[in-house]
Amino acid sequence: MILVTGASGYVGHNLVRRLVTAGHPVRALVHNPDKAQARLGALGGPIEIVQGDVTRPETLAPAMQGVSAVVHLVAVAIEHGSATYERINFQGTVNVVDAAQAAGVRRLINMSQNGADSALPYRFLASKGRAQDAVAASGLDWTALRPSVIWGPQDEFANVLARLIRLTPLVFPVVGDGQARFQPVYVGDVVEVIARSLDDERTIGQELGLGGPDVLTYEQIVRRVLAALGARRALVHVPVPLLRPVVKLMALALPNPPVTASLLDLLKVDNAVPHNALTEHFQMTPRPFVPENLGYMRRFSRTGSIKRFLGQRTADEPDIELLPS
Ligand SMILES: NC(=O)c1ccc[n+]([C@@H]2O[C@H](COP(=O)([O-])OP(=O)(O)OC[C@H]3O[C@@H](n4cnc5c(N)ncnc54)[C@H](OP(=O)(O)O)[C@@H]3O)[C@@H](O)[C@H]2O)c1
Repeated sequence: MILVTGASGYVGHNLVRRLVTAGHPVRALVHNPDKAQARLGALGGPIEIVQGDVTRPETLAPAMQGVSAVVHLVAVAIEHGSATYERINFQGTVNVVDAAQAAGVRRLINMSQNGADSALPYRFLASKGRAQDAVAASGLDWTALRPSVIWGPQDEFANVLARLIRLTPLVFPVVGDGQARFQPVYVGDVVEVIARSLDDERTIGQELGLGGPDVLTYEQIVRRVLAALGARRALVHVPVPLLRPVVKLMALALPNPPVTASLLDLLKVDNAVPHNALTEHFQMTPRPFVPENLGYMRRFSRTGSIKRFLGQRTADEPDIELLPS
């Protein structure tokens, strides 16, 4: 039995589907049962959905019973109320490690992040770095995965750009000089790596960078999204300090803001992967972030995009993602 935390999240529900389709029994630890029902309910196969909260260790102990490996995916990229980087990303990971140790579960795949480092001034990357430090010190048979930004039909990065483009006529603002580098990696490739790592002892004790085939600047990403949408916009570079008040206002006014101040800072941090385990270790051919693979963005409507940022359900975003095979 494989325990997946964050199982109804973006990566999580794709991973659960990949594992159960291959016949692996999965216990899916979920936070919000309604979201889990929408995303995992229709999946057939050997899946057990349990509710849990990484900040409440008493919910983790029963979830670990009879488990041979844990894939830990829970994290927050945007803080809400008490769901802070410290409580969820760091302490939540410590709680998962403690629960695994107490239950005698040895194998742990920890989803870290390219660039995560406890010494950095960026709070999100520091929290993910401290979490991985705790995993590395645990004595468990761990593997850490460090993807660059993950793209796919329900991502929160390229799709946010697509939705913002839908809402802006003629001109689109590019953050800063637009030269920050990313290496977008497809969600289907990421879940494939997780599935293969579970059975690959050579990955134990390793931190594995994961990226797509191309290193792209932020501006190149925007241009590819424009091409996918068949849209034309004049790109205007806006210095980060000028965007900060707008972003703060959005964070206050919108239940599901497209970007926050701490994520804005990350657009300045290089996010290219130094060693790409996806190609070097797993010998996979990663799916490129090119307009031909982004056709799903065309279904995003103006109304749907407004609803999305207001935190409402949208008709243009199906609950169950259809990954191309
Ligand atoms: N997406 C990317 O571009 C990217 C890139 C690199 C690394 N990563 C890492 O990949 C992992 C998965 O990311 P994702 O994009 O799939 O994120 P996601 O969609 O936000 O999924 C995170 C999941 O964590 C759950 N969660 C939040 N608080 C929880 C709590 N207190 N207890 C239990 N579960 C809780 C959420 O459940 P509810 O929604 O029900 O609250 C959600 O299902 C994260 O560790 C992230 O840092 C992501």
